[in-house]
Amino acid sequence: MSDPRMNTFHRRLPGVVYGGDYNPEQWPREVWQEDVRLMRAAGVRLVSLGVFSWSVLEPADGRFDFSWLDEIMDLLWTNGIHVNLATPNAAPPPWLATDFPEILSVDRQGVRHAIGSRGHFCPSSPVYRDRSRRIATELAERYRKHPGLAMWHIGNEYHSDCFCDRCDDRFRAWLRQRYGTLDELNRRWGTTFWSQRYSDWSQVHLPQPVRGWVNPSRELDFSRFTSDNLLELVTQERDLLHAITPDVPVTTNFFGCRLTDSHRWAKELDVVAFDCYPDPGKPHSLAVAAFQYDLMRSLGNGRPWMLMEQAAGAVSQWKTNQVKQPGRMRLGSYQAVAHGSDAVMFFQWRASPQGQEKFHSAMLPHGGEKTRTWQEVKALGNELRAIDEVATAHTGAQVAIVWDWQNWWAVEGCAHPDNAFDYRDTVARHYRALWHSQVAVDVVTLDDDLSPYRVLVVPNQYLMTRRQSTAVRKFVEDGGHLVVSYFSGIVDEDDRIHEGGYPGALREIVGAHVQEFSPLPAEAAVPVQAPAEKAALSGFFATASVWQDDLETETARPLAVYRKGHLAGKAAVTEHELGRGRAVYIGTRLDDDALEALVQHVLDLAGVRPVHAAPRGVEVTERRTRTSAYLFLLNHRQDKATVTLDRSGTDLITGRRVEAGETLVLDAADVAVVRSSPATSLPSEPPSGDS
Ligand code: GAL
Repeated sequence: MSDPRMNTFHRRLPGVVYGGDYNPEQWPREVWQEDVRLMRAAGVRLVSLGVFSWSVLEPADGRFDFSWLDEIMDLLWTNGIHVNLATPNAAPPPWLATDFPEILSVDRQGVRHAIGSRGHFCPSSPVYRDRSRRIATELAERYRKHPGLAMWHIGNEYHSDCFCDRCDDRFRAWLRQRYGTLDELNRRWGTTFWSQRYSDWSQVHLPQPVRGWVNPSRELDFSRFTSDNLLELVTQERDLLHAITPDVPVTTNFFGCRLTDSHRWAKELDVVAFDCYPDPGKPHSLAVAAFQYDLMRSLGNGRPWMLMEQAAGAVSQWKTNQVKQPGRMRLGSYQAVAHGSDAVMFFQWRASPQGQEKFHSAMLPHGGEKTRTWQEVKALGNELRAIDEVATAHTGAQVAIVWDWQNWWAVEGCAHPDNAFDYRDTVARHYRALWHSQVAVDVVTLDDDLSPYRVLVVPNQYLMTRRQSTAVRKFVEDGGHLVVSYFSGIVDEDDRIHEGGYPGALREIVGAHVQEFSPLPAEAAVPVQAPAEKAALSGFFATASVWQDDLETETARPLAVYRKGHLAGKAAVTEHELGRGRAVYIGTRLDDDALEALVQHVLDLAGVRPVHAAPRGVEVTERRTRTSAYLFLLNHRQDKATVTLDRSGTDLITGRRVEAGETLVLDAADVAVVRSSPATSLPSEPPSGDS
């Protein structure tokens, strides 16, 4: 991460940035005048321009037309609006695909995609790479001195994998570099299984359709390769943009894509940006959004990130596209800021008149200024000025949860005892337990520095390297509290079993081993209870489903045992004291309430306090600078909620002075941001230079 560029950005655009994707090329010029008038009215300060403009900017190979872009860049700038200028590589124009069909991506079945959509490029195509770089260079050279240029937006939501011959060649080259020799490749991929041993590099290919089941180690490496190959597109454009415009930060918008390992990607960007579309029709979407926001903050090492896209109302791509009820768009926007975003941006500014997304909401709907959405958008843009000082503030957490792309690929990429396993859902359940406990949470991998944390939650980390298991052991021995769920520590980075009894990479840490994995039939529910003598968890009752480990405790003790079934009397949850810390192992899928109770028990043991006491359904976070603490209270409930403040300060949104002990009443969907003096220091202080 490069602070000088972001410092420049903040000097240009101090405060919480408001805006969205703007596609002026879809409208005649008269509309542009109205656009900028309304943008000003709504407090829009930054627009993402040109994301899908390639065919308009370059109508034929090497023939550029920047006239409209010149005009709109100037118009925006004279109205005080900055530009997050996109390199338009996400949608290669028809001429490029027609003149050079090799630029089109090929699916796993070998079918080459046609034009007519977006994201249809082969990341390995030299022509695609060349033409993408060329137009990025043209844009950078042309606008490098433009005062409105504030940021670069490379491509859009990278998610194009490709199985063409060129990708096949690059995959082989990537493997040669990774493994050096064919013997090593054979060893790492376990090719003695099913007679897959390679005797020449020419026999090695990316995964193509096979007769039956696949080689999971090859699949895992292909996921790694795809992520790296796509990332190379970003770093190449980043380097050329940095060379031409050294002060302008560069980003690309993440969206939680399975193909791109954002832990690796984030290290290459000046700022992390994220597109978030929580589904109002789904029960846990607020917690999922909170998780994603914490992930984004953690990807940038705790530095603020940018909410680059969200919907002002309904989207149009799902089966049923529910609207955001009055006030919920505002609340969701504050939620992002509460979790570290310094921007509230939308897809898109004005609703499209045509195309696949014409029924997707926008800041300015088809119905114009009279619509509820516009009124809410305008009000929010103006209101956010009241919390501008929050921008650049940091969040410190004593709790971390693990989310790891490598594990996602591995655990869903091979045949194992529970082939319905859903990693995203599993992590979301564990995160929810923390979310309801109102504690601040970072989202990490086991390769990150674990020393700032008192509690580490590791949901089903099937893939665990030796280095990672050493790091986990050190974390516990140094006094950390570990919560780890079943089917963790099973394989290494090559998807090879850690020998010596499950969970091979964790056995000594959890002080128990698994005799046998024992998945349960879909409808089965097994009662679990704390043994009578275990006072700390007395009253603990849970329902186990999906999976049971047949656990043999070694140096651990049971915290809860099965009450029925073939494992009745055996441990379902264990606790192991190791060094100065403790490892709690969960050998089954506990129901949500029980998981929450268990997590709360561990938080209590570790002495981790909620950010602030609040009723269920009121989300609480804190951001800090050296001089101020900002407490966010977000009422997600359908009714009023009250919070008795533990501090005095100022509610920035109302401007009202509030006192410690005072009961703050929050209407349904309302929010308060209370500024006070920071009482204690953060577990990890913000880096110097930021305030
Ligand atoms: C995003 C994408 C936008 C738009 C939006 C609709 O994933 O970047 O271009 O399609 O979804 O929700």
